Amino acid sequence: MSFHPRTVIEPFRIKTVEPIRHTSREEREAALEAAGYNLFLLKAEDVLIDLLTDSGTGAMSSAQWGGMLQGDESYAGAKSFFRFEAAVKEITGFKHVIPTHQGRAAERILFGSALKEGDVVPNNTHFDTTRANVEFRGATALDIPIAEGRVPGLIHPFKGNIDLPALERNLSENPGRVPLAMITVTNNSGGGQPVSMANIRAASELCRRHGVPFFLDACRFAENAWFIKLREPGYAGKTPLQIAQEMFSYADGCTMSAKKDGLANIGGFLALNDDDLAGRCKNLLILTEGFPTYGGLAGYDLEAIAVGLHEVVDEDYLRYRIRSVEYLGEKLTACDVPIVQPTGGHAIYIDAKAMLPHIPQSEYPAWALSLVLYLEGGVRSVEIGSVMFGRQPDGSEKPSAMELVRLAFPRRVYTQSHVDYLAEVLLYVNGLKERIRGVRIVDAPPALRHFSARMAPAHGELIA
Ligand code: F0G
Repeated sequence: MSFHPRTVIEPFRIKTVEPIRHTSREEREAALEAAGYNLFLLKAEDVLIDLLTDSGTGAMSSAQWGGMLQGDESYAGAKSFFRFEAAVKEITGFKHVIPTHQGRAAERILFGSALKEGDVVPNNTHFDTTRANVEFRGATALDIPIAEGRVPGLIHPFKGNIDLPALERNLSENPGRVPLAMITVTNNSGGGQPVSMANIRAASELCRRHGVPFFLDACRFAENAWFIKLREPGYAGKTPLQIAQEMFSYADGCTMSAKKDGLANIGGFLALNDDDLAGRCKNLLILTEGFPTYGGLAGYDLEAIAVGLHEVVDEDYLRYRIRSVEYLGEKLTACDVPIVQPTGGHAIYIDAKAMLPHIPQSEYPAWALSLVLYLEGGVRSVEIGSVMFGRQPDGSEKPSAMELVRLAFPRRVYTQSHVDYLAEVLLYVNGLKERIRGVRIVDAPPALRHFSARMAPAHGELIA
């Protein structure tokens, strides 16, 4: 007999701390008004638990900080680049590794080199910057997740899967107009849901048959690999690294934000096999990001990413990471708070349409809920709904398929008692849900409006 603990602990101890600050409800009310009822415009110091994003907000390890001291800041051919390149190649196997300052820079450079007006890019679900970068080229960003992926309460092991018949149709109907197809792992905008290996493999085969390059948006590749290990037959005995390597083996390239599963505070990369496309990408990189051995990053950033890519596939880390999200999900589900099921990799997504059926989509229920979570508990989340996705390229409004509030977990930052506090806030707000009122847009830019829109309560107050 040996001891088998049920508690999944944080697999680290804390060596540096950053205080967080309690505020009063009155202070938060004033902060919301000053921020134009947009959580992106708050001062971070006025937030108690910040779940706005898991991007660039993680805690680095002592090995990463130590690695940063080894940063080689040579303009060209720095040692740090080669360490970074080796780490990326070990996982992805791609021939060309192009560092960028973050994920969207990799997207802009890939799409700027591969897309032309009138093209179509299929994806399970484009993240907002990915969509904006496709549309900026005059191309169409087509979201084709499986039907189950659009039903928040439905349990399915791989809700992030791409709809293979829809992909096939699209490839057949648009010959010469699909310069590449993508799958986002995990599917962030669709609830942080994983994509199965079988789905990646099948999508890759379809693309190959049509001569279309297949890319992964790999921001959360390690979390996706962990779900494959847990849920897909045949993978339980493989390591997350082996699973990730197989995922990448089916692709021709990837875009990556190292601010997520690179465990770094900044950075990203574009990696691919095609020599000609890589050459064009590097030329564009030099124009705006920098020389191809640093791509807008410092040598020390490349070091932090190289170490982070190694740490992120650690099994104890991934077990703790996915379990923390699931733990909050279980507490909410037990009290009938509607969330995207099953819980995904990096975040809890509250189904605001189901929770607040009295608020029409034209009054942005998920946005309203995110404001109330801040007002009552000092928690910052993000709307993934009709403020983020409702405005069409032609200027018209179309309600988003889902109205979600995402509570994204920074990596290695919060502990179980923070999660217990979160559950308390969410259950308290759930108790007053009938009184939550909608919001309206006062002023917003035409693209990526959620970042800077000024909003206001539609009926004078947030809570009746
Ligand atoms: N792709 C996905 C799936 C993402 O989640 C993100 C960023 C990007 C691309 C762009 O990467 O921020 O480094 O330029 N997602 C963050 C989020 C911002 O909050 O989900 P970036």
